[in-house]
Amino acid sequence: MDSLIVVAGATGDLGHRIVTALRQRNAPVRALVRPETDPAKIDRLTQQGVQVQPVDFSDSVALTRACAGASCVLSALAGLREVIIDTQTQLLNAAVAAGVPRFIPSDFASDYTQQAPGLNRNFDLRRELQAIIDQAPIAATSILNGAFAEVLTYNIPLLDFKQQQVGYWEDADWQIDFTTMDDTAAFTAAAALDPTTPASCALPAFSLVRASW
Ligand SMILES: NC(=O)c1ccc[n+]([C@@H]2O[C@H](COP(=O)([O-])OP(=O)(O)OC[C@H]3O[C@@H](n4cnc5c(N)ncnc54)[C@H](OP(=O)(O)O)[C@@H]3O)[C@@H](O)[C@H]2O)c1
Repeated sequence: MDSLIVVAGATGDLGHRIVTALRQRNAPVRALVRPETDPAKIDRLTQQGVQVQPVDFSDSVALTRACAGASCVLSALAGLREVIIDTQTQLLNAAVAAGVPRFIPSDFASDYTQQAPGLNRNFDLRRELQAIIDQAPIAATSILNGAFAEVLTYNIPLLDFKQQQVGYWEDADWQIDFTTMDDTAAFTAAAALDPTTPASCALPAFSLVRASW
């Protein structure tokens, strides 16, 4: 296995899980980190055999150099407009300038292509980035995993183990897809390493069809 995968956001929760899955497949990984990133998170990557490349994401020349030689540039960055649109567009442009054939943006969401614009800020940002990617000479893959199953127990209190309650919306027939973070990471690593991966990958996530009983 010699396909170099360049990962932005490798110090994050999902990003680190993706890097771990890539290393389990013996893939060479280069992690692009901010100069101010927590050194402990960098040490953890280095111990996993990851090449860590500090880079100023606003420096297009340095970012292009940092992407050179990759078979895929993968983003697990998290944030709002300045990250999802601005930083990821800088990363996309650097990948294109470096001649990288494939790009995976930090989507990791429900299938926003099926949702009406204006209802969800995060989906709208992903849709906006997708339009930019569509104009770029690079093959891109969106990973559409639904919600992280872990989030359902706190951020979206759908599964309240403490109270032994299950929450629901409206008439409880609203379908919600969710996938664990580790399954999402393993799937993403496989997609990054497979040059035949299609443009959109919806995980065979669990679907909570009736959320009450
Ligand atoms: N579907 C779901 O239910 C669900 C739930 C949560 C998250 N997500 C999505 O999953 C993806 C990863 O989220 P996460 O929870 O793993 O994020 P996280 O743990 O907060 O990690 C964020 C990563 O982005 C980096 N980063 C943030 N701002 C940056 C910037 N301006 N420049 C460069 N790097 C920057 C951080 O680097 P530092 O270490 O330097 O800070 C870190 O590596 C995101 O797309 C997020 O929206 C989906």
